Amino acid sequence: MSDRASRWGADANAEADRAEPSDVTLIAHRGCAGQYPENTVGAVERAAPHVDAVEVDVRRCASGELVVFHDAELDRLTDAFGRVADADWEALRDLTVLDSGEPIPRLEAVFDAAPDDLLVNVELKEPGVASDALGVARRADNEVLFSSFHSEALATLRDRDPETDRALLVADAAPERAVERATELGCIAVHLPIDLATESGFVDAAREAGLAVNAWTARDREDAERLLAAGVDGVIADRWDVLPRTERRSRD
Ligand code: G3P
Ligand code: MG
Repeated sequence: MSDRASRWGADANAEADRAEPSDVTLIAHRGCAGQYPENTVGAVERAAPHVDAVEVDVRRCASGELVVFHDAELDRLTDAFGRVADADWEALRDLTVLDSGEPIPRLEAVFDAAPDDLLVNVELKEPGVASDALGVARRADNEVLFSSFHSEALATLRDRDPETDRALLVADAAPERAVERATELGCIAVHLPIDLATESGFVDAAREAGLAVNAWTARDREDAERLLAAGVDGVIADRWDVLPRTERRSRD
């Protein structure tokens, strides 16, 4: 286990960790999308006091800026239509997310809003945003974990700075293959959907390879309990109250 991995809770002794569910890290999925308008500055500010880390999704708009927005298309979250990749920042900055009054932020704004001791999990939604996202992260004081489904994005980060903390997002691979890919990419963690994380074999395979396991998405207490029972290191949750601070390790 590397020092980097240990910060995210990876521990080859899976049995011991299972007996200590309070060691889990709570990561606010899109800034606690079940409670606040997802991927907004307001969500980050309101989730921050309650969580160890915040996860945000990053993609590039037509004029080149990195924007924090989950979908490729605008219509679910705003009253506009079309692709984010086809829209200029000047148009995007006037949109409001889910009628909340909260605008779509640029990645820099999320770091500006995040307390320095909040871990920021930047999910790279496109392979081509890795270098610029790294540049933004380097200007911030926060500890950053980059994650992506795109191996190319993680490879770019590895090649530019091997010390970046990286996690491979896995949708449906077999445990052995996912662990092998994450290891090749020098990741410290794999991020698994809840059904894979609670499947037998996945957590043990990852932990034996020295990888932390963070799993998404806990929507309620029952989901969080399932993930704790599975022995994950991090719970990526839509609500911070699925695992209040008193029931897990503090980031202090
Ligand atoms: O990083 C975990 C999770 O955010 C991945 O799925 O679609 O919510 O970005 P998605
Ligand atoms: Mg995400």
